[in-house]
Amino acid sequence: MKFTLVSSCVALVVMTLAVDAAPGGKKLSIPLTKNSDYQPNAKAAVSKASAKFNKKLINPLKGIPGGITTDGGSGKVPVVDYGNDIEYYGDVQIGTPPQTFKINFDTGSSDLWVASTLCSSCTSHTRYDPSKSSTYVADGRAWSISYGDGSNASGVLAKDTVTLGGLAIKGQTIELAKKESSSFASDPIDGLLGLGFNTITTVAGIKTPVDNLISQGLISSPVYGVYLGKASQGGGGEYLFGGYDTTKFTGSLTTVPVDSSQGYWGVSVSSVKVGTNTVASSFSGILDTGTTLLLFTDSMAKKVAAVYGAKDNGDGTFIINCNTSSFKPLIFTLGGATFNVPVESLIFEKQGSTCFASFGYAGLPFAILGDTFLKNNYVVFNQQVPSVQIAASINQ
Ligand SMILES: *[C@@H]1O[C@H](CO)[C@@H](O)[C@H](O)[C@H]1NC(C)=O
Ligand SMILES: *[C@@H]1O[C@H](CO)[C@@H](O)[C@H](O)[C@H]1NC(C)=O
Repeated sequence: MKFTLVSSCVALVVMTLAVDAAPGGKKLSIPLTKNSDYQPNAKAAVSKASAKFNKKLINPLKGIPGGITTDGGSGKVPVVDYGNDIEYYGDVQIGTPPQTFKINFDTGSSDLWVASTLCSSCTSHTRYDPSKSSTYVADGRAWSISYGDGSNASGVLAKDTVTLGGLAIKGQTIELAKKESSSFASDPIDGLLGLGFNTITTVAGIKTPVDNLISQGLISSPVYGVYLGKASQGGGGEYLFGGYDTTKFTGSLTTVPVDSSQGYWGVSVSSVKVGTNTVASSFSGILDTGTTLLLFTDSMAKKVAAVYGAKDNGDGTFIINCNTSSFKPLIFTLGGATFNVPVESLIFEKQGSTCFASFGYAGLPFAILGDTFLKNNYVVFNQQVPSVQIAASINQ
């Protein structure tokens, strides 16, 4: 899904979801940048989300399949941490010769779309030009996505080579935007790449980029590892397709079963505690790189807020005391292991002497473990089982 603060991209794929994603860290990777001008906005972040839903590489990659390689075919895509952890995007190449785009990786949706030259209003973005790609193949079917904040995009399908971390996927279905709603104009991304399951593509029957990485033999392990940086520690992040990066987490990985029946990376959370105080137990959540905050169901969010003495703004956000010295971390139990959201991550943004909490609610029947959770915990997504493996990020 996508519940970012910047522009909201929540794709209502049929009825439930949204779109949006984030990127991972780096290892032998490239420098990260961050945008210090961006003013985060917790309210916008929540509204987007709510609409959206009503040590070494362990990676025997097969190498570069004759395509365009930007990163040695490692499957690694460094990401930019935009606006103090609001969203993360990395470079993706489309076409031959390659055209490069800033793409938001979203484990909460499954469409790949990009601004195109068919879109006269998309001038603030780099636009894919099919006439300049020798590998472009027309399709002609229409597509359309609506996000929770009311933003949307639509256009026409096509196929082309898509290169991710140097791995060239041939004949990938891509969605060329002919229209983008105005909120995208202020968003740095040129498009989104969904990392959810192919049951929720907006046009049925499309294979996702990860499906094709697997079926085309570009990765030998059906996984990708996600490391999201923190602006407070220099930002950045990294997606590693076909493996995971042991330098980005501490301790050992815990395997957690995934319920993909809704097309999302659904997990069962046994409990959430603040210190020894249990504030929620036995609920479903999704791991969503495309959502900025940690969104609980409304009742759960209110209980968490009460423990921290946070004030409900009535719009899905909370004001929390900027002095967190007496606070305890949020502790999630999944797969029998505990995963923390440390105290410093409880504040999403500070405006003067007012602090907005990094947790909220959006009228959803399940929780969204968005970037607030994922920037503190490294996750390896395994599409084939399906399952995830989680460990504390080096950021914690
Ligand atoms: C797309 O968003 C705009 C507002 O930015 C709205 O006017 C328009 O009706 C939306 N289109 C669809 C199909 O939802
Ligand atoms: C922060 O709160 C603690 C108690 O929770 C208090 O001792 C401390 O003085 C406070 N710091 C500031 C700067 O107000």
